[in-house]
Amino acid sequence: MKEINIPCVVHVYDDRDQLTADVKDLMESAVSARDSAYAPYSDFKVGAALLLDNGEVITGSNQENASYPSGLCAERTVVYYAGAKYPDARFLKMCITAASSNSTTFDPIPPCGACRQAIVEYEIKQESPIEIYFMGASGKVMKSHSLANLLPLVFDKSVL
Ligand code: THU
Repeated sequence: MKEINIPCVVHVYDDRDQLTADVKDLMESAVSARDSAYAPYSDFKVGAALLLDNGEVITGSNQENASYPSGLCAERTVVYYAGAKYPDARFLKMCITAASSNSTTFDPIPPCGACRQAIVEYEIKQESPIEIYFMGASGKVMKSHSLANLLPLVFDKSVL
């Protein structure tokens, strides 16, 4: 038996003001998108904004449903729309922000496992990394240079 250590490297910014101008704008788009969340069941609103290599910015938010599992996270709303509308575009950067009406979250909110799996599919498809930035309601931002970095031991087409 041996132990394997798989590193996950993230960069932490104390505030979104420390981001480069393009990413700061993208995070502002995610913050605006958060307001469009339909989250009557969790009161947890998530906004996401995705920059494509054709210059388009796709924004979206979580959409809940009385049949809970039928709802969809903000990140998947965005990547599936982008994939459907711009099938030839590469995804460059995604910003994510979440705010709860029950408590104020200032810690960065990372994408859930299902969203990581959805996003990594596009990284594999386009053969280039997607930068991921995530934030709570405001404040600290975490950056991952790729989605694969957040999803070690990925399940991908190589095993099918
Ligand atoms: N949610 C997202 O939109 N993205 C995530 O990565 C995690 C969770 C949504 C789903 C649900 O509407 C609410 O947040 C609470 O889980």
